Amino acid sequence: MSGAEFAQLRIELLRSARGQVLEIGLGTGLNLPHYPNSVLRLRAVDPFPLLPDRLAARSDVASFPIELSCISAEDLPYDTQTFDCVVSTWTLCTIPDPVKALREVRRVLKPNGAFLFLEHGRSEDIGVAAWQDRLNPLQRIIGCGCNLNRKIGQLIEQAGLTIRRLDRFQMRSVPRLGGEMYQGSAMPIAASSFRQRPLQESQ
Ligand SMILES: C[S@@+](CC[C@H](N)C(=O)[O-])C[C@H]1O[C@@H](n2cnc3c(N)ncnc32)[C@H](O)[C@@H]1O
Repeated sequence: MSGAEFAQLRIELLRSARGQVLEIGLGTGLNLPHYPNSVLRLRAVDPFPLLPDRLAARSDVASFPIELSCISAEDLPYDTQTFDCVVSTWTLCTIPDPVKALREVRRVLKPNGAFLFLEHGRSEDIGVAAWQDRLNPLQRIIGCGCNLNRKIGQLIEQAGLTIRRLDRFQMRSVPRLGGEMYQGSAMPIAASSFRQRPLQESQ
């Protein structure tokens, strides 16, 4: 996920990141070189950080302090309304309970904060989606828990975030089953006007 097309998408997404930022699923820190100077501090969570040497090298060149916690996004230790931005790239596919994690995202975002997301997920083409469903059990095994068929937009709204922008497109450098993209931003819905609904979707 370090190719040129991935890097360009990361740059476009992160252009509007600012202030106090939380990244969920930091991985090897591939987003770190692309955060703009408007970021004051980055806190990141990932229960399984890999390749610590690469992560350390990418952290060293950042112009803002970075704090990584080896914890899951489903249970964040941060106070309510702490962050100006929360970022998720290629992570909602893998988090075991994405709606629980997104409810935490909603909770820790300031009222005018932004959730910036860049994720692959379920195709709108029913033929492609059927193949995503068929191959998902295998993908979960070979892709370390990655799901091909999550309805990313639906999961975000189910968690009490309202989508302000959503671009759907296919990546050129990735086979279609894993390259159906959801890129955009969402804002928290005020707690007073959002009543938690039971989960309707297990994917
Ligand atoms: C496909 S990698 C993407 C890494 C990175 N976001 C990127 O864009 O390169 C998915 C990441 O999600 C992390 N992850 C898995 N379960 C998680 C959870 N419950 N909470 C937060 N991150 C999680 C994995 O450890 C992995 O680093």
